Amino acid sequence: MSSDRPVIMQRLKAETQDLHDSAEKHELQRRLMKGELPQELFAAHLAQLFLVHKTLETAIRAAQANVTQLATIIKGYQFQEPYLLEDLKHFGVDPASIAALPATQRLLDTITETASASPLALLGFHYVLEGSNNGSKYIAMAAAKAYQLKPGPGLRYLDPYADNQREYWGQFIADTARCAFTDAESDQLVGAARAMYAAIADISDDLLAPSAV
Ligand code: HEM
Repeated sequence: MSSDRPVIMQRLKAETQDLHDSAEKHELQRRLMKGELPQELFAAHLAQLFLVHKTLETAIRAAQANVTQLATIIKGYQFQEPYLLEDLKHFGVDPASIAALPATQRLLDTITETASASPLALLGFHYVLEGSNNGSKYIAMAAAKAYQLKPGPGLRYLDPYADNQREYWGQFIADTARCAFTDAESDQLVGAARAMYAAIADISDDLLAPSAV
């Protein structure tokens, strides 16, 4: 419930709602939900997300030593790189062979720049990806049917926490409530979250472009 949320979490949700609505409506997400996305494209989507998570999570780990909010809020189990590696293995994708699409490369560059210029803003990027697990649970059901997957490799990224999803999201909100953010920091987090939503949409566009896969 939003009344239990610290102000920063209220702001993040309210000030990115428009982009969440668009994300849900994106053709890639719709085709995924309908079980109509070819498996090859699903695997290619996971491959691009692998590059994003690897870069973001490496930057966050490095910044946690100096930025208390990152250390307080971001737990080891939230790092999705290992889950993506399991999924890529399941689909026979060699992680070393993945080439970043143009939109992915732009996001990787933004993450790297942010990590050195304003590392706290990495939390805004992370919020979008961690929050997306709330809806991914439903997408996992569609993917399970479409690609004949059982819970486990292939579906790890879409449903990393299984029965713990609600608890872990509640914990994320509670840990955020334990941290202080200045107005300027909150503005930065909202800006970073909006940039992440836009980047994910751009990556999805690239994936659906005829020459992508
Ligand atoms: C078909 C696609 C999607 C569906 C059906 C979906 C659905 C949902 C649902 C049901 C929630 C929980 C809402 C609540 O309990 O208040 C949620 C939360 C969230 N989703 Fe999605 N989602 C989708 C795609 C995405 C994508 C692509 C992203 C990121 C790029 C995303 C990011 C988030 C975030 C950050 C939250 C947490 C919002 C908050 O409470 O602060 N979602 N989504």
